[in-house]
Parts: sequence; structure tokens; C-alpha cells
Amino acid sequence: MDANNPGSERLEEGWRHGLSPQQLSLDWIQAIQRLFLEGTGEEYFVGSIQSLPVPEWAGNFMLFDSEETDPKSMRGLLWTAPFKQDTVRIVSFVLDAGARGKGWGSIVWNQLVEQLLPEGYVNVQLEVRASNERAISFYRTRGLEIQQELHGYYRQGMGYMMRGKLQQYHPNNDTPEHED
Ligand SMILES: CC(C)(COP(=O)(O)OP(=O)(O)OC[C@H]1O[C@@H](n2cnc3c(N)ncnc32)[C@H](O)[C@@H]1OP(=O)(O)O)[C@@H](O)C(=O)NCCC(=O)NCCS
Repeated sequence: MDANNPGSERLEEGWRHGLSPQQLSLDWIQAIQRLFLEGTGEEYFVGSIQSLPVPEWAGNFMLFDSEETDPKSMRGLLWTAPFKQDTVRIVSFVLDAGARGKGWGSIVWNQLVEQLLPEGYVNVQLEVRASNERAISFYRTRGLEIQQELHGYYRQGMGYMMRGKLQQYHPNNDTPEHED
């Protein structure tokens, strides 16, 4: 990927349907361990990744930097799960450092909405570290609000539970954030 020239991404780069934790072989899990360590600073055991509560469904995406769908080419991951019939819970959302700030997170957010809103998932919720200002601002812009402080959820520091309507976000048009 050309880190200095976002306009030059090759066509084959992009988000594709993602495998679920239970579908992964060891080389995929090791690639995800590296992604999580770098993105969140936390070490995950193989077993803790395999047992994440994420089903095989349309809410899982992986970002690749080539046409190969293999662990070496994976640059990001969005894993979600259905929660209480009408809510999508974001379980893991992480891009590697070189892939951040180029619009990939925004693209997959809209893809998630496109997949799941027609299925009746109208709300979205997640947990985020209170210190993760960038992610909190990303979610706020997309209509989520902090609902609750989480103490003891993360090994270090406080967390927030955020929740809102599942909706697309297009920064260049005038659509209000809350359309209802
Ligand atoms: C949070 C994350 C998924 C967002 O994805 P991304 O591809 O970096 O986001 P985008 O490039 O689409 O930009 C999203 C927003 O961040 C802003 N942004 C871009 N670069 C930024 C930077 N260096 N610092 C802060 N904000 C920045 C953009 O202006 C954009 O604003 P908008 O929300 O008003 O559209 C990604 O940064 C990431 O993986 N971070 C590390 C792991 C993490 O924190 N995950 C969330 C855990 S809950």
C-alpha cells in the first residue's frame, strides 16, 4: 500500500467479507494477534480470539491490501455480533497503523450499515477505552453517544459503552445525523 498517496490504492485493495473467529486457522489467528497487539496494546491468546462471541454472518469484514485473501495481506478487521434482535454489537474494529486515517474505517462502517439495516438491525453499540479519543470521535460523528462508564471492563483504565442508531455517514452531503 502506498502510505503517502491515498489516491493510488489499487483496485484490488479493499474490504471483503470476513471470516469468523471459529473459521480461522492458526496463521490467520497469528495475524490477528499482531493486529490486536498493535492496535489496542493488548495481547490476546489464540484461544481467546477463537472464543470471541462473533458468529459467521454478514457483519464481519476484513481489509486486504492485494487481491490475495490471506493473512499476510490482511490490514484490518471488523467483527460484529447480533444483540437483542435489533442491535449490532461491534466486537473488534482495528486497522493496522499504516491503514488508518485513509477513509477505510469510514468505508466499512457504511458497508456494515448497508448489510445489516435491511435485516432489521437499527441500533449499534460497543465498548471503547475512555482514552481512545480518535475512536470515540469516529463513533460520535456516526451518531453514537456515551451511555455508561465501564469500570473493570478493560485491564487498564476506564471504558465507555456507546450506543446509537445504525446509520450511514457521508461527510460531503447535508444529511442530518439523526434522520428520524
Ligand atoms: C478507529 C479506526 C477503526 C477508524 O478507522 P480509520 O480508517 O482510521 O478512520 P477514517 O480514515 O475513515 O477516518 C475517520 C475519522 O477520523 C479522522 N482522522 C483521520 N486521521 C486522524 C488522526 N490521525 N487522528 C484523529 N482523527 C483522524 C478523519 O477525519 C475522520 O473523521 P470523520 O469521523 O469526521 O469522518 C482506526 O483508526 C483504528 O483501527 N484505530 C486503532 C484501533 C481502535 O482504536 N479501534 C476501535 C476500538 S473500539
